[in-house]
Amino acid sequence: MPQTHPHPDVDRVLLDEQQIRERLAELGEQIAEDYADEPPILVGVLKGAVMVMADLARQIDLKVEMDWMAVSSYGSGTKSSGVVRILKDLSGDITGRNVLIVEDIIDSGLTLKWLLSNLRSRGPKSVEIAALLRKPDAARVDIDVKYIGFDIPNEFVIGYGLDFAENYRNLPYVGVLLRSIYED
Ligand code: XMP
Ligand code: MG
Repeated sequence: MPQTHPHPDVDRVLLDEQQIRERLAELGEQIAEDYADEPPILVGVLKGAVMVMADLARQIDLKVEMDWMAVSSYGSGTKSSGVVRILKDLSGDITGRNVLIVEDIIDSGLTLKWLLSNLRSRGPKSVEIAALLRKPDAARVDIDVKYIGFDIPNEFVIGYGLDFAENYRNLPYVGVLLRSIYED
């Protein structure tokens, strides 16, 4: 059954299914235009980017490839440190290829900064970033994000791939998590 009512742990819905769908369609069209000559390998960052990858990839009218990485950022609680470990590496070679990283959210930007330099060291033709969401702190790190879905306020969000303690990833919208759920 589709999920029609906001989850009780959600304070408010920030982006509903239609808003996400429409924005990803715009980004997909832009990406198809930009990469018409040489289609990219989309690199999804597990697990949060699963929904964005699935929906964005279907809006790109090109012969794209899809690959995945899983990384874990050492850090305390919800803050990332920029020290990253690869849990699952790409299954293919990206030498000489256009790579488009697909991310759910950029917060401090430290994870992406590390990922960018890691992928660049493998000799790709280009590496760009597509992220569904960006929080204000991302402005402090100098990384160029070519495709951004939405700039959102500095609140903890869940749904559409994003989790709190591995829950809520399957919510079809992006919502702000009730403070009472993560504060005691
Ligand atoms: P950076 O390195 O940009 O980290 O600080 C980005 C990663 O942090 C997680 N993150 C969130 N996850 N709701 C989530 O479910 C959020 O509001 C949130 N903010 C950051 C996420 O894993 C992202 O890849
Ligand atoms: Mg993530």
